[in-house]
Amino acid sequence: MTLDLKDYVASYPDFPEPGILFRDISPLLENGDAYRQATNQIVDYAKKLNVDMVVGPEARGFIVGCPVAYDLNIGFAPARKKGKLPGHTVKATYGLEYGESSLYLHDDAIKPGQRVLITDDLLATGGTIAATIQLVEDLGGVVAGTAFFVELMDLKGRDKIKDYDILSLMQY
Ligand code: PRP
Ligand code: HPA
Repeated sequence: MTLDLKDYVASYPDFPEPGILFRDISPLLENGDAYRQATNQIVDYAKKLNVDMVVGPEARGFIVGCPVAYDLNIGFAPARKKGKLPGHTVKATYGLEYGESSLYLHDDAIKPGQRVLITDDLLATGGTIAATIQLVEDLGGVVAGTAFFVELMDLKGRDKIKDYDILSLMQY
């Protein structure tokens, strides 16, 4: 039976700030069948792209990317926030729907020429994913595609990464 994944996304008005309608994937993650269905769709996409590695930004990019990497028996590299990675890193700074932040990747996480799938739970303005793309490309990786559970269409994140392939499982 195929589930309607939107039945597993909750909406919270005015979180974390007034005016933001927060789409929350917690119900999806809490349901084994929904989480597996969403993950399997991204695994199928990754197989078509022939990827060697998965990269996901902290924190929710890990939730999407790690089970995909596990299923494909390939590696996962976390793009982390400031002060979390102990080794030599590359850095990218970006603006968020609310706030500004930086992401870092260990500089040996990706080998030049490796085909990388970038995952996150949600595409909003595209700042996070654009920064993650920059990190992968700084290390010589090839961004084969990007995959999200949720895409917020009004925020036009897709326009920021228009040169890249995008899979989003749900659009709002
Ligand atoms: C959220 C979300 C995406 C990003 C989307 O993460 O998980 O990574 O924002 O927004 P954007 O497309 O406008 O960049 P957040 O930075 O809140 O971090 P978290 O996953 O640690 O909660
Ligand atoms: N939901 C979850 N994460 C987010 C959102 C949202 O609406 N916007 C930016 N990050």
